[in-house]
Amino acid sequence: MLDTSFAAAALPDHGALALLLRQNSPHGPLFEAADQRCGGALSRAMAPASFTGKKGQSCVVLGAAEAHPRIVLIGLGPDPAPRVFEEAGASAALALAREETATLIPGGTAADAAHAALGAQLRTYRFDRYRTKEPADDKPRLTTLTILADDPGAARSAHAPLAAARDGVFLARDLASEPPNVLYPAELADRCRALEQLGATVEILDEAALTEAGFGAILAVAQGSARGARVVVMHWKGAEGAPVALIGKGVTFDTGGISIKPAPNMEDMKWDMAGAAAVIGTMHTLAARKARVNAVGIVGLVENMPSGTAMRPGDVIRSLSGQTIEVQNTDAEGRLVLADLLWYAQDRFAPRVSIDLATLTGAIIVALGHHHAGLFSNNDDLATQLLAAGIASGEELWRMPLGEAYDKLIRSDIADMKNIGGRPGGSIIGAQFVQRFVRGPWAHLDIAGMAWATKDSALVPKGATAFGVRLLDQLIAAQFES
Ligand code: BES
Ligand code: MN
Ligand code: ZN
Repeated sequence: MLDTSFAAAALPDHGALALLLRQNSPHGPLFEAADQRCGGALSRAMAPASFTGKKGQSCVVLGAAEAHPRIVLIGLGPDPAPRVFEEAGASAALALAREETATLIPGGTAADAAHAALGAQLRTYRFDRYRTKEPADDKPRLTTLTILADDPGAARSAHAPLAAARDGVFLARDLASEPPNVLYPAELADRCRALEQLGATVEILDEAALTEAGFGAILAVAQGSARGARVVVMHWKGAEGAPVALIGKGVTFDTGGISIKPAPNMEDMKWDMAGAAAVIGTMHTLAARKARVNAVGIVGLVENMPSGTAMRPGDVIRSLSGQTIEVQNTDAEGRLVLADLLWYAQDRFAPRVSIDLATLTGAIIVALGHHHAGLFSNNDDLATQLLAAGIASGEELWRMPLGEAYDKLIRSDIADMKNIGGRPGGSIIGAQFVQRFVRGPWAHLDIAGMAWATKDSALVPKGATAFGVRLLDQLIAAQFES
């Protein structure tokens, strides 16, 4: 991970620099000092035709001063929000990737400096655990970024909760990136144990415990796999009162089961546990920053495989709630996992709200593409709060409908419900199924289109996104902390 540190606002005597500059306002004493050392090369670079400080603009000045062979100017626009500092920090880290150390001059408040550091770290994340022969030239070299601030102590304090969010994001990205032969249910459950070091409690329900308690839907999904199911309950008790429950779908690999998926892109289904990863990452963040909230994270970990012991289309299973389900398609397994988890969470914890995250349907990608996750909720207040947290965190949601007309589509001729209801409105039908197991205020986030990126973006390199961690951290900070 890129190491960031904060230092007093004095121009270093040598080394690569990045300056974040506002549009249409004076650039401050550090810019003037650097410009002077370059014999005015920086102000000359700032011509209307090349660099004006517009948001997203950048300009590399090479060889203008012997002491500073590479200087990067990055535009912030006229009135930059924290996100703009994150994105500018990210593009500074990319532009300086070939240096070993560099200095970033954000020129804003302590909080701005902290956000710039966060952005640099988020964007330079790499999952390279399984590369043994990568040529050194292909690897980013930047190891230390020093960020200058008028009050480095204040910047350090502002960075602390952001570092907790970063660690939760990195944990979630690592988990979703792991290959499915390495990260199977028991292994993922073991990795949750690390949260104990932060003061959370972690309880792992194994197959015997799940059987004893009657998690019939989760066990039905798991029964085709040689790897047993697990449910993990993580509890961060940073306050009294009813908890917020965060529920995650953790299918460590989804072949579809007997209703098997086609071969092309099936490898993507290693990240069918991204909902669980986001919950684990969020719990990590809450514990790491000692959030004043009572939160439980519950993840259902299974592998959906076809085999001689697998559930069949036509099987009728009994969920933890007692409701029976006719399984018409074994590939609609995520909703079965959520059904038992939600029931369990409500039964045991009587949460003030329950929020589930799941890579539930391909249909949500058809509906919303890769820019919003689907939000389904039975509670307008919670929905409004989530939409606002989405905008504030940059992890955006779009509200989708629920209703009786969709619910009818999952009526079964033999059981209380069936697990599919036709292609039209597929993501709504999935949500409608889940709602049958809900009693209190609830929201369901279908993150199938958001959990994995096939190209780089401002703060997220391609690969696992950890979508949901910053969103939930933001929601809890804004709405549920005392
Ligand atoms: N894990 C998939 C959904 C998915 C698809 C996630 C693409 C990420 C990217 C889920 O378990 C699934 O297979 N859903 C089916 C439901 C259908 C059988 C009703 C789907 O979307 O096709
Ligand atoms: Mn599936
Ligand atoms: Zn799935």
